[in-house]
Amino acid sequence: MAKRILKIGLLGAGIIGKGVVDLYKRNIESINKKNDLVLVLERVADRDQSRLQALDLAAGNVTTDASQVLDDPDINIVIELIGGLEPARSFITRALENGKYVITANKDLMATHGQELLDLAREKNLNLFYEASVGGGIPLIRTLKHSLVADRVKRLVGIVNGTTNYIFTRMDQGGLSRQEALSEAQKLGFAEADPTNDVEGLDAAYKLVIMANLVFGKKAKLDQVYVQGIGGVTYEDIAYAREIGYTIKLLAIGEELPEGLALRVHPALVPLDHPLASVLNELNAVFVEAEAVREVMFYGPGAGAMPTATAVLADVVEAARCIRSKAENGMIEKPLAETDFVPIGDLQVRFYLRILAEDRPGVFAALANSFGDENVSLDMIIQKRRVGELAEIVIITHKVKEEAFQRALKKISDFSAIKPDPSIIRLLE
Ligand code: HSE
Repeated sequence: MAKRILKIGLLGAGIIGKGVVDLYKRNIESINKKNDLVLVLERVADRDQSRLQALDLAAGNVTTDASQVLDDPDINIVIELIGGLEPARSFITRALENGKYVITANKDLMATHGQELLDLAREKNLNLFYEASVGGGIPLIRTLKHSLVADRVKRLVGIVNGTTNYIFTRMDQGGLSRQEALSEAQKLGFAEADPTNDVEGLDAAYKLVIMANLVFGKKAKLDQVYVQGIGGVTYEDIAYAREIGYTIKLLAIGEELPEGLALRVHPALVPLDHPLASVLNELNAVFVEAEAVREVMFYGPGAGAMPTATAVLADVVEAARCIRSKAENGMIEKPLAETDFVPIGDLQVRFYLRILAEDRPGVFAALANSFGDENVSLDMIIQKRRVGELAEIVIITHKVKEEAFQRALKKISDFSAIKPDPSIIRLLE
């Protein structure tokens, strides 16, 4: 019997879209052979003619009209690589309504409307796959969902933003300022022209929500994620961190506590002997702590056209397998349960604090009293450098309730001898 031909339509011929077409051309023969499939890229749609020309496909295989992908009854699988919320959300909805399997790399959309789209896919007995939405080429989504299903994940800690990891690596290893490191990352293509979502932590928050939904099976909400970007971290902080055996990373942390889910994105001091400390440059990693497996880490290229294209095409193959044999129905089999969230103020954390103070009697006493009043125990105090006329003091606390630390900080900032805007960075425990 002749094998059924499965036709693919692609929306979006930007950097990732072109990567998918290039990888398709390079590997489709072996992909089909290995999986006993006949997958064919039928049509690519993009509003920009020049992007379509760059794909070097036959004229009949490209279009500026998305409906020629969405409404073509011969197309079985639609790949959405437009990004952003609209028109991506409407297009995915339309593709599912039209009976097509959908693949997306869209983290913004999956973090904000993923549940609604997965519900629709389930209702239609179809699938929506999104392996490329987190961690680019790292096999992560399917692993978190399938391979850890028999365990109970307690916490996941991710370096899921390449731009900020590159910046911190170059500040640490190259002595660059934050701005110099960002410019270098942009020059090398590791950072976008507008890196706002990356440096402010939103990109990592999107990815955290997607992963938390999968590992905790509860409805993680973007507006319940505490998000702090890398703006407050200077070269001096990185140098002090190294001196005491740490490096600084932007972390996305999700944990299930008895009171609910705690979700946060912020820079953190990571011990140099922690596996995440050796994740350098633009690379990503997710470190999972679970009851039975204990600790596992997934590591690799979190972005880039070709690594991301491998995740997209793997999803295409998965969709084709489902069409053939209904192997899997939905990446989330049932609607996620509602959950409580633990506010950042209730978490127990260790803090690094770097302050500048006038060098006069009573400053340490004031610091000690403010921390003592709030039951904040200090682990380490360093004072060895002057900045002009000012003394620079670095303090590491023991684990404290964040609220208590913030109250102590407020008291400290009322002293005229203490200069405003200290550096405050949490530690990874
Ligand atoms: N802008 C992201 C990063 C890549 O810097 O990691 C896409 O998710």
